[in-house]
Amino acid sequence: MHKYDKDRALVDRQILTDRQGEVMDRPGRVGDKSFYIESYGCQMNFADSEIVASILADIGYSATASMDSADLILINTCSIREKAEDTVRKRLRIFDKAKRRRPGTLVGVLGCMAERLKKKFLEEERLVDMVVGPDAYRDLPALLASAEEGQKGINVLLSREETYADVAPVRLNSNGVSAFISIMRGCDNMCSFCVVPFTRGRERSRDPYSVIAEASQLYEQGYKEVTLLGQNVDSYQWSHEESGESVNFARLLGLVADIGPDLRVRFSTSHPKDITDEVLHTIAAYRNICDYIHLPVQSGSSRILSRMNRTYDREWYMERVESIYRIIPDCAISSDIITGFCGETEEEHRETLSMVEWAGYTMSYMFYYSERPGTLAARKYEDDVDLATKKRRLAEVIDLQRTVSHQHNLRDVGKTMEILLEGRSKKSDRHWKGRNSQNKIVIMPMMDGYAIGDYVDVKISDTTSATLLGDIIQKSQYSS
Ligand code: 5AD
Ligand code: SF4
Repeated sequence: MHKYDKDRALVDRQILTDRQGEVMDRPGRVGDKSFYIESYGCQMNFADSEIVASILADIGYSATASMDSADLILINTCSIREKAEDTVRKRLRIFDKAKRRRPGTLVGVLGCMAERLKKKFLEEERLVDMVVGPDAYRDLPALLASAEEGQKGINVLLSREETYADVAPVRLNSNGVSAFISIMRGCDNMCSFCVVPFTRGRERSRDPYSVIAEASQLYEQGYKEVTLLGQNVDSYQWSHEESGESVNFARLLGLVADIGPDLRVRFSTSHPKDITDEVLHTIAAYRNICDYIHLPVQSGSSRILSRMNRTYDREWYMERVESIYRIIPDCAISSDIITGFCGETEEEHRETLSMVEWAGYTMSYMFYYSERPGTLAARKYEDDVDLATKKRRLAEVIDLQRTVSHQHNLRDVGKTMEILLEGRSKKSDRHWKGRNSQNKIVIMPMMDGYAIGDYVDVKISDTTSATLLGDIIQKSQYSS
């Protein structure tokens, strides 16, 4: 599954579903308006769309799964690679047709592309009525009111404080089992390839008590898993001005895990320079904090890492991985990898390959480098690895990762493990899909007496490189 993959983004187009995954329209009040939203890019964007849904609900807009009946069409966009932006432009052509079929429909562009292109968007894409950056969603009601009067609206102001802490997200596309909780916004890291610091602004952490309140509410509603989200969760840091109380990421993890022993806690993304042993010990101490860390390496070469401004080298990264396996022996680690970054030699590419093997990633999100305007790398380095080489190196990394994932999965065959049932398998309506603590997808035949949201013990019988296959043995200790 590629977080930022164009095709996956299309598959994951955010539509409203009920707990069984059936598409449904949320009932609106009489006279209410409706909005249709598509989200692309990272999990943070999907979480932001739920904030937007909440802000719109306050002014009488309800979500609809049908673009053609919507009064307002929104697209929450991603700028991370050129391809992601191309996808958005294609979708805008489709919205244009919907707008022509139903005059009066408004179209709004949200998120990173809105922030990056600002006014240019209104000039280039004539059909767009609103351009709203990630920190300006509270302004949506005012922008909508002007747009209804025929006045195009834009707000791309970035904030140093906005965390939407008080906005209760309206869950979209939810299976009623897993939910995302945004714990911080922005990024201060300035990796040289990355546009995010420019589109999402400075890093800020959300009040931990609002995070705990949101997680507790989800738990009371029957949710079984929360994923704490941030561009760099390890630098989460909140302090109360008056009392001086301070909460770091390790403590926040513990506080959320304390909500209930049957609430799984996940988090993403970790940064190798910031992940501390304190966090690792917290994961090890709590049964319900999942044994899974997404720890993007980006490159296995110290010279390239320095050009990427990642602020760690190969040795530092390896030491962090060793600490993870020492403190949490069963931990799964996944990665993000970029091939063909500026100046990358064949030898340096091989260092990335050897890292995939050495670290034993259970999976990786892999990309070839796409230069983004305005970034440090675009200004400082020549994008000098030709496209064919970038793609060939990417294919090599993907191939190797597939083998490493398969080997990892083979070690699970014969084991019995606790799985949270998350929904029906996409490929078969007689199979369920769930995940183990290590974030591996497990497919198993449905059985009477079990339901989505149950924890079950599953014996693994077979595997592919991507998926484990097994059979339910019994409800596990934590099933309700
Ligand atoms: N080109 C290719 N991949 C990129 N990523 C970020 N910026 C770029 C870029 N310009 C990848 C990184 C990051 C993930 C979210 O997207 O691997 O970790
Ligand atoms: Fe981009 Fe680096 Fe921040 Fe991740 S940590 S969002 S790659 S700048």
